[in-house]
Amino acid sequence: MLTVQKLLSLPVFLSATLIAHALAAPQGFIDEDKKDSNLDYAAALTGGEGCGDKELKAIREGFDEMNKIFQAALNPDFTREAEVEFFGPPDRISNYTAMIEGNLRRAAQYGNREGNATKNPDIHVRCDDPNGMCDEGDKKKGKHYVYNIGNEPHINFCNKYFDMDPLDDKVDEEADEDQTKNDLLNYYNRATAWARMVMHFSGVGTAVVVQAVANTQPNATSEWSLNFSEGPMNTSVLAGVKDAHPETNGPNNIRILKHAFGVTRAKLLATLSTQTAYDAANNAENYALYAQARYVMQKKNFYPNMPIMNFGNDMAVLTNEGIQDGDRKKFACFEMSDVVQRRQGTNEMGGALPSSASATSRIWHSQTFALIWLILSCLGIFAL
Ligand SMILES: *[C@@H]1O[C@H](CO)[C@@H](O)[C@H](O)[C@H]1NC(C)=O
Ligand SMILES: *[C@@H]1O[C@H](CO)[C@@H](O)[C@H](O)[C@H]1NC(C)=O
Ligand SMILES: *[C@@H]1O[C@H](CO)[C@@H](O)[C@H](O)[C@H]1NC(C)=O
Ligand SMILES: *[C@@H]1O[C@H](CO)[C@@H](O)[C@H](O)[C@H]1NC(C)=O
Ligand SMILES: *[C@@H]1O[C@H](CO)[C@@H](O)[C@H](O)[C@H]1NC(C)=O
Repeated sequence: MLTVQKLLSLPVFLSATLIAHALAAPQGFIDEDKKDSNLDYAAALTGGEGCGDKELKAIREGFDEMNKIFQAALNPDFTREAEVEFFGPPDRISNYTAMIEGNLRRAAQYGNREGNATKNPDIHVRCDDPNGMCDEGDKKKGKHYVYNIGNEPHINFCNKYFDMDPLDDKVDEEADEDQTKNDLLNYYNRATAWARMVMHFSGVGTAVVVQAVANTQPNATSEWSLNFSEGPMNTSVLAGVKDAHPETNGPNNIRILKHAFGVTRAKLLATLSTQTAYDAANNAENYALYAQARYVMQKKNFYPNMPIMNFGNDMAVLTNEGIQDGDRKKFACFEMSDVVQRRQGTNEMGGALPSSASATSRIWHSQTFALIWLILSCLGIFAL
C-alpha cells in the first residue's frame, strides 16, 4: 500500500529525475509552438504591459518574421532596381552607402541566437499606449499600427497591429495574384511594421543629423552653417510640397508635414531633386519596405516594383497631392512621426516576460502528470 512515507522514501535521484524531466523535456507541450516562441534569440522581448497572451504571441511571431526579412536584406547591391528605388541612384548616395549597409547589418543581428557574442538591445514591447497615439489619425490619413518611444528599444503595439497578417501567409497570397503581385504595398505585414520600429532604435539605425549652427568663421559670408553628424533615425518628410494645415477655427500657421510612410512616399524620397541625398537613407520605412521587397525576391524570384516613380519631372509630383498622398492603404498615421518622446512617469525598463504565458501552465500540467505518473509507478512497484 502506498503511503506518503513510501513515496518520500523513493531514491531521491529517481523522484528528482522524474520532476526535472517534466520541466526540461516538455515534448508535446512547449515544443509544439517552439517555432513561434523565439526562446533562443540572443535578445529578449520584455515588458508586455497591457498585452494579453494572444497579443504577446502575435508580437513574438512578428519579431521572428522580421528577422527573416532582414536576413534577406543583407548585402545590398546599390546598382540594382530595389536599392535604387528605396535609397537612390548610386551617384546620389555614394556618401551614405556604408551607413545604409551598417543599418541593415545591425538590424539583422536581431536574428542572432542565444550565446552569440553580438547581442542587440532587448526590446521592451507593450500594448498599453502610454502616449495615447493609437487613436490619432483617421481612415484617410491612416492610423498608427505601432510606434516607437524615444528612439530607444521600446515599441507600443496598437490594436491595428493585431489585424496584420503573418509574413508568409501574406507573401504567398499576394504573389499568387497575377494582376497585383507587383504592388509592394500589398505585402505590408506585421514583419514590415516591426522592421520599421527596429530601425528607430538608436542602437540599430543611424541617420544623418543636420543642424544649423551660427557661423563663427572670421569673414564668414553667411550667418549660419550646417553641422553634419550622426544620430538616431526618425521618419523623413516630403520637401517642397504644399503642407496641410489642421482645421482650426480661424487662421493658423500650424503645418502638418507629409511623413514618408508607404511605398510611394518612400520612393519619392529617393528620387525627387527637392529631397536631400540622405533623406531616403534617413527614413525607417525605406529600410522596412526594402527588406520586405528583398524577402519577396528571395521567396518568389521577382521584384515587386509597383508603383513606378516615373513622372518625367519633379514639378508633376510636387504639385500633385494625389501622387504625394499615394497609397490607398495606410499602415501608419501619414501626418505624424511614429517616434514619440517618452512621457514622464512611463517606465523605462520592461520587466521579464514569461517565456510564454501559456507555457507556464503547461509546465505546471506536465509537472502534475509527472507526479501522477510517479504515484502510479510507485503503486505498480510497491503493490507487486
Ligand atoms: C560626398 O561628401 C563629400 C565630402 O563631404 C562632398 O564633397 C561631396 O559633394 C559628397 N557627394 C555627394 C554626392 O553628396
Ligand atoms: C553571430 O552572429 C553573426 C551574425 O550577426 C554570425 O555571422 C556569426 O556566425 C554568429 N556567431 C555564432 C557563434 O553563432
Ligand atoms: C531624431 O529625433 C531625435 C529626437 O528628436 C533627435 O535627437 C535626432 O537628432 C533625430 N534624428 C535625425 C536624423 O534628425
Ligand atoms: C578677413 O577680412 C580682413 C579684411 O578684409 C582680412 O584682412 C583678413 O585676412 C580676412 N580673414 C580671413 C580669415 O579671411
Ligand atoms: C556639430 O555636431 C557635433 C556632433 O553632434 C557636435 O559635437 C559639435 O559641437 C557641433 N558643432 C557645432 C559648431 O555646434
